[in-house]
Amino acid sequence: RPPPSDALFATLEKAAGYYRHELMNTARGKDYFKSRGITGETAVAFGLGYAPDAWDSILKLLGSSDAERARLLQVGLIIERDNRSGHYDRFRDRVMFPIRDARGRTIGFGGRVLDKGEPKYMNSPETELFHKGRELYGLYEARQATRTLSRLLIVEGYMDVVRLHQAGITYAVATLGTATTPEHLARVFRICNEVTFCFDGDRAGRAAAWKALENSLSQVREGRQIRFLFLPEGHDPDSLVGAEGREAFEARIKQALPLSEYFIQQLSSQVDTRTIDGRARLGELARPLLERIPTGIFRELLTDEVAKVVGLKRDHISLVAGTPVSGVE
Ligand code: UTP
Ligand code: MN
Ligand code: MN
Ligand code: MN
Ligand code: MN
Repeated sequence: RPPPSDALFATLEKAAGYYRHELMNTARGKDYFKSRGITGETAVAFGLGYAPDAWDSILKLLGSSDAERARLLQVGLIIERDNRSGHYDRFRDRVMFPIRDARGRTIGFGGRVLDKGEPKYMNSPETELFHKGRELYGLYEARQATRTLSRLLIVEGYMDVVRLHQAGITYAVATLGTATTPEHLARVFRICNEVTFCFDGDRAGRAAAWKALENSLSQVREGRQIRFLFLPEGHDPDSLVGAEGREAFEARIKQALPLSEYFIQQLSSQVDTRTIDGRARLGELARPLLERIPTGIFRELLTDEVAKVVGLKRDHISLVAGTPVSGVE
């Protein structure tokens, strides 16, 4: 007998195949992707699908025995009714994005509503095979396009990855509805040395960028390039690459802010650097963050930059007395 996870992978693969088939055979899902500018070729590359508007389509197709239903539950494709009198499909009337692991095996799904509706995206729950804080949507597809990835663009959403890929920017990956975790970053830097974060041009996107910076500091190394691309207000990578095309978008990637510049710029914007109080505050904000950077030239240089803004010698930044500050929200 194969190990139990083989059966779970098989269940997910059958479901993905069914959703793909439904996309081909129902106008509703196809029209939706068409309205978002997605081509058939892109749909095939990402295995996009459609979950029909029914409570029991997956349940009927793949849940005829107790053992099968147990597997559907385990991979999060069905949900047990409150009164435990049965089950129903998790994904109904949604366009489906299979989430694949590095080997291309489907481990979960994201499903988007076609009209208004909450939540806009529904994701598979954490399961034995699917760990949100670890997975990067689009990594398998990025590798299919380029065997040896030399750079990654980290974006927020499924549609961002798919649309960028279609535009020829095939090195985009997304974290899955969660912030970028230290686990994501460790993984990203095992793959390549050149990473650009590009979150949505809104308040949430900017907060996510700062969080990503905080989590990246421990990953700073010689030879690694970490940069941040900020988009015009109201845009995300999907909308912007649609509006201005590949070349303009890649020009933006080339001009993205190095971590060091974003660091100084962001901290300076939080205080009034014209006052002693403000500069002192900046030093306090910077210190615990600088301490996360592995000791080395980069840390020394960034500390010098902070010292310049604060108007102190470098040693005073590292040694300056005072109560530790817990960082910036
Ligand atoms: P956005 O709201 O920016 O979605 O969330 P989007 O990708 O631009 O959506 P479109 O363009 O309207 O289709 C970014 C990502 O956050 C996660 C999803 O991974 C989404 O792609 N998310 C968002 C959720 O998990 N649940 C939600 O309800 C919303
Ligand atoms: Mn596990
Ligand atoms: Mn957003
Ligand atoms: Mn978005
Ligand atoms: Mn979007």
